[in-house]
Amino acid sequence: MALERTFSIIKPDAVAKNVIGAIYNRFESAGLRIVASKMVHLSKEQAEGFYAEHSERPFFGALVSFMTSGPVMVQVLEGENAVLKNREIMGATNPAEALAGTLRADYAASIDENACHGSDAPESAAREIAYFFSADELCSRTR
Ligand code: TYD
Ligand code: MG
Repeated sequence: MALERTFSIIKPDAVAKNVIGAIYNRFESAGLRIVASKMVHLSKEQAEGFYAEHSERPFFGALVSFMTSGPVMVQVLEGENAVLKNREIMGATNPAEALAGTLRADYAASIDENACHGSDAPESAAREIAYFFSADELCSRTR
């Protein structure tokens, strides 16, 4: 299995709960390495563009409003099977259905304020990483 990269967001609810470090610890404990990271307060246009695939869904307006309600942490995670591994660490979209010990079970209050984002496939990971980071902001961790 080759090294893979995925894109992650710690959403405004989790940033407000002050659990950035706790969440980074979950990533690192699972063998994922942070190769880029920054805090940003998304504009409406940035949030709409990021979630463009959901623009026709009934929850789109609320999602954009939530994602712009406070700062987020965006990061690129690298490791074996990083896309799937991050989705497992996160748990189901609806925290009521998320397995015990996952980020959403532990930190999310509802399906619309659910603590974290993770790419769902290598192709979306590449697109989402490029949406937030230039190539020179991605560090090599192999040494
Ligand atoms: P989705 O891509 O289906 O979930 P995931 O984040 O697990 O990949 O949806 C994107 C976000 O949209 C989701 O994290 C929260 C929001 N959302 C709602 O607010 N209500 C919903 O019914 C769904 C499906 C998503
Ligand atoms: Mg998704």
